[in-house]
Amino acid sequence: MSEAAARTKVPGDLRAAVEQLMSRYPRHRSASIPALHWIQKRDGWCTPEGIRQVAEVMDVEPAYLESVASFYDLFKLEPVGENRVLVCTNISCWMRGADDLLGAFCDAAGLDPAEAGHGGASSADGKVFVSGFECLGACDIAPMASVNARYFGPLENGDAATIVASLRAGADVMPEKAIAIRGAAGGPDGPPDPRLGG
Ligand code: FES
Repeated sequence: MSEAAARTKVPGDLRAAVEQLMSRYPRHRSASIPALHWIQKRDGWCTPEGIRQVAEVMDVEPAYLESVASFYDLFKLEPVGENRVLVCTNISCWMRGADDLLGAFCDAAGLDPAEAGHGGASSADGKVFVSGFECLGACDIAPMASVNARYFGPLENGDAATIVASLRAGADVMPEKAIAIRGAAGGPDGPPDPRLGG
């Protein structure tokens, strides 16, 4: 254990969660991704403090976890807007107007489309983060976006302002366009599939 990690105080709930995650794998480093998700859910992003706490429990260097987090676009190593809108701009969505849809989200949130299209941008009020994104695996509802890890589509440009207004108001986002049972990686679990289990 590093000296820095040895000085890190670890909350009991984090220790219990990370130990439970490590118990699922023969090599405890395999728990790095779900442990980083845990921190991102708690703090809103992968904070240095959260990473040090996880590193202490996993007995790895914080730099190792930072290197894992920096590899994946869904992990954030700096603060971003409270609500995350990922607009798919890959081929199927692009052919159905995704660039304009991304622009409409940027107009609604007051963001620069070039910045949003290259790593993402957050609104001045801290409420909305918008980013262009690679294929989110929901090409059948192109053009689509992931809003707080739930999928919505097919979207029209006018929907962007409605969605951003709902996020700012803390209201439900366009339930009529939600893919209710299709969760995104790291998002909340959907309802159980009735075809499975007894
Ligand atoms: S191209 Fe947009 S979800 Fe696949």
